[in-house]
Amino acid sequence: MPGDRPLLASRPSSELSNDRDIEEEDALLTGKPTHRGHGARSWKFWREVGLFVWAVMATTFAIAIAVVFQQSQTNDSPSMSGKKNLVFMVSDGMGPTSLSLTRSFLQFQNGAPWSEQLVIDQHMIGQSRTRSSSSLITDSAAGATAFSCASKSYNGAISVTPDHEPCGTVLEAAKKAGYMTGLVVTTRITDATPACFAAHVNMRSEEDRIAEQMVGEYPLGRVVDLMFGGGRCHFLPNSTDSSCRADNKDVVGLAKKHGFSYISDRKAFDNLKGGSGLEFPMLGLFADGDIPYEIDRRNENDIYPSLHEMTQVALTALSEATRDSDKGFFLMVEGSRIDHAGHHNDPAAQVHEVLAYDKAFTTVLDFLKKDKTQGVMVSTSDHETGGLATARQLHTSYPQYLWYPGPLANASHSAERLSVEYAKYLANEPSDAAKTTFVVDSITNGLGIEDHSDDEVTNLLKDPDTALYQYADMISRRSQTGWSTHGHSAADVNIYSSDPKIASALVGNHENTEVGDFLRNYLGVDVEAVTEELKAKGKELKTLDVNGTEVGWMGPVPAEGQRLDGQTHLATYGGDFKKRHLLHGRGCDCQH
Ligand SMILES: *[C@@H]1O[C@H](CO)[C@@H](O)[C@H](O)[C@H]1NC(C)=O
Ligand SMILES: *[C@@H]1O[C@H](CO)[C@@H](O)[C@H](O)[C@H]1NC(C)=O
Ligand SMILES: *[C@@H]1O[C@H](CO)[C@@H](O)[C@H](O)[C@H]1NC(C)=O
Ligand SMILES: [Zn+2]
Repeated sequence: MPGDRPLLASRPSSELSNDRDIEEEDALLTGKPTHRGHGARSWKFWREVGLFVWAVMATTFAIAIAVVFQQSQTNDSPSMSGKKNLVFMVSDGMGPTSLSLTRSFLQFQNGAPWSEQLVIDQHMIGQSRTRSSSSLITDSAAGATAFSCASKSYNGAISVTPDHEPCGTVLEAAKKAGYMTGLVVTTRITDATPACFAAHVNMRSEEDRIAEQMVGEYPLGRVVDLMFGGGRCHFLPNSTDSSCRADNKDVVGLAKKHGFSYISDRKAFDNLKGGSGLEFPMLGLFADGDIPYEIDRRNENDIYPSLHEMTQVALTALSEATRDSDKGFFLMVEGSRIDHAGHHNDPAAQVHEVLAYDKAFTTVLDFLKKDKTQGVMVSTSDHETGGLATARQLHTSYPQYLWYPGPLANASHSAERLSVEYAKYLANEPSDAAKTTFVVDSITNGLGIEDHSDDEVTNLLKDPDTALYQYADMISRRSQTGWSTHGHSAADVNIYSSDPKIASALVGNHENTEVGDFLRNYLGVDVEAVTEELKAKGKELKTLDVNGTEVGWMGPVPAEGQRLDGQTHLATYGGDFKKRHLLHGRGCDCQH
């Protein structure tokens, strides 16, 4: 019990031994005047008065301690009050090495000693094993299904089982139980991680369908109270310029039909007044696609809110909205683009994504510290991305043990942003000389690289299609950052929590589905009932696919072969080493 020691220690020990205090105490208790200076009473009389007063005070003191003890029990123990808040944070694609990378970068940038850590470093409690049902290397869809449904499924599955049945999610069950719910991300809100909490489709690429489901066009109706992120293009009809939908459905209109307030820019976000002016349900889509990388966004703060700002507003609004409820809220916050920086092998973009996540992590910790409702935050990754190493052998000679954060600090733009600007520039068909000037400029100003080689410039001029990878590689080589893939890896990832006692089930090394188990168990919600409801209500539901063919409500099923069979895949090496580059050549058939 934390309260008792300071209380006893702060009590002056001389209090009861002072005769004058005893006399005045006596007067207060009996209502008689004190007899100071008379000296008429016997020693025995005073001793009895003293003992009596001492007994009264000791009893009062004991009662006070008991009350304090009980109150602190009520605050600390989940069992004594039913109301709970749960914040689940996902650092998409962040493996342990992302932390080493970012920590060293931070120390370099701040001129700080080796002891300086990220906030998140101080809250690690365990590790998660990440494989999916179909592969030793998961994608974000199977990864998030392990969290939302607490079950393994195949890469590409959005909260559906390997046999293409829907599995109820913790968010859906929380909503049914009376909690309020929210999703805050920096990618498209229709991307795999957020989708897995409030949608069910057989193929993650069905983002148009996911958008419809997330606003309430599916068997359960609306289940999300707040959504902040990007992905606006999937909500706008194809008659709109910035639409990326295949059809002419107006999903913003559908959202409004389900009651949503819709906002789409920074000004409207600021009008939410930190959350106190937010009207539920709320749909805030601040970018057509992904919100820009933090390394670029920080210079565009007037256009896009940051992850920690969105998190703060969501926490404030959800907390106020549930103030008089006996249920709290479930909020999922994703640092979505740590993963993208890994896919791009761009270490400069990545460290800023991780720092932004650390800031959002701190925002959640601060909220939980101050909030009266008992709550917990658990943070983990779905997988590692890039096979990142804070080491790189650049030559055949044995390497020196060195890694340099400096080149990351020099870069003022992401490789993604520079390559997009380069592509836009080329669209104007500039002269060769102008192109060269542009490329050299992007290297020196955008990346802060002062020692570029002629080959590096020539390659960017010759092969603009891979400019993104080339820019990122220029930083990676100079910093001696290593990457083994543009995809994901099978590395275990860290688990963090605001409270290792409440999250004790996740201390140590766990399967990713156990993270899902924790979420539903902590909230005490019935996810199986949601699964049954989805199956029953969805049975007869038919929808149209993009070609106008009738399909089930969860969309088309991936073709055999597109979906690897777990055991076969594990057992068989099919000669990929020789075959694959012949099949696919260069480029991205990206499944993030
Ligand atoms: C827009 O969607 C409709 C179906 O909703 C389709 O018939 C039409 O071809 C689409 N237009 C474009 C430009 O894709
Ligand atoms: C980074 O910038 C500093 C200061 O402008 C410069 O001295 C250094 O050479 C740059 N690093 C690289 C890799 O070009
Ligand atoms: C829809 O049509 C496209 C192009 O004709 C085809 O590639 C795709 O496989 C079809 N999709 C389905 C689900 O049948
Ligand atoms: Zn990914």
